Amino acid sequence: MEEAALRRASILRALLAIAVLAQAACGGDKGTAPTGPTNPAPAPQPDPLRDAANASGKLVGTAVQSGYLRMPQYAAVVGRHFNYLTAEYEMKMATIAQSPGVDNFAPGDAIVGFALGNGMRVKGHALLWHGSVPSWVDALPAADLKPMVDSYIRNVVAHYRGQVLAWDVVNEAVADDGSGLRDTVFRRKLGDGYIADAFRTARQADPSAKLIYNDYGGETLNGKSNRIYDLLRSLVAQGVPIDGVGLQMHVSASNPPSAASVAANVRRLADLGLAVNISEMDVRIRDAPGPLQTRLELQKSVYKTLVGVCVDEPRCDAVTFWGFTDAYSWIDDRFGADDPLLFDDQYGAKPAFFGVWEALLRR
Ligand code: XIL
Repeated sequence: MEEAALRRASILRALLAIAVLAQAACGGDKGTAPTGPTNPAPAPQPDPLRDAANASGKLVGTAVQSGYLRMPQYAAVVGRHFNYLTAEYEMKMATIAQSPGVDNFAPGDAIVGFALGNGMRVKGHALLWHGSVPSWVDALPAADLKPMVDSYIRNVVAHYRGQVLAWDVVNEAVADDGSGLRDTVFRRKLGDGYIADAFRTARQADPSAKLIYNDYGGETLNGKSNRIYDLLRSLVAQGVPIDGVGLQMHVSASNPPSAASVAANVRRLADLGLAVNISEMDVRIRDAPGPLQTRLELQKSVYKTLVGVCVDEPRCDAVTFWGFTDAYSWIDDRFGADDPLLFDDQYGAKPAFFGVWEALLRR
């Protein structure tokens, strides 16, 4: 079925290109973010992934960038297949709080507007992350950093109150070797309690948003995931308002995490009463063995198996990919040129797409 669908997709993609050009010729969408179902999906695409996700009761999401959403084909594929959006960088501190006293909400607002216009939910990402700290914040003395962080969280969460389903409140706060908390500006100046304080402040600012701790390298049972588990268990025991945990799942097809170990880790996290989600999945094939088609099939099986772990766990509620088209992936800069996502750079559905689709439908 797959090959026929791909062949049909490539024939009709040419037609789509003509349609898009025709649309461009009659002055469609110049610089304005597409804002609703009026924006036609590139016809024909495979059946909507979001329908398969609905069938399994999970949310299926992607990271997006506000600039890319202005491109009709990009917006159409997002609108057709996903029902859960995460801003790739627009809702991070380095974007929102570029300079003291100035809130740059416009890029994030564009993404939230698109999502709500397409019947999608939004995950805010991320309130506190050491990888997105403006230099003026980094330079603050501890006495000024505390009120800054407190008012930042209150302000941002209040701005998106009622529009976001969930927030990644703290991101990547555990050291990679599992030895303890990561050495960050927040920990150095505010102490270990900065994590619990951030969750309490977020809850006060939006009592209905799901509050999540997010990290990478803690997908399987290992030293880092043990430390993450200990952190979350102590937060729960202290009565800190935390609702979920995100497993980023940036993995490689040449050495994928063991599904059984991921499943056991997901179960123990869920047994803490937390909702689990896969938050930033991509599967690198750059170092995988064999010709491209072989690597694409291997990639498909990795996506199918790991998404299947979430589908099989009732307390796993969402799967988000860190982008969806190989045209735009952070992996290329971070790990080297690759094809880690579900669609190729012409928005053609790859075997990986069908792997996720089959996992969501338990096929
Ligand atoms: C990355 C984005 O993809 C890049 O565009 C940006 O330059 C840096 O951040 N873990 C996270 C994400 O939680 O926020 C990061 O996103 C990737 C790793």
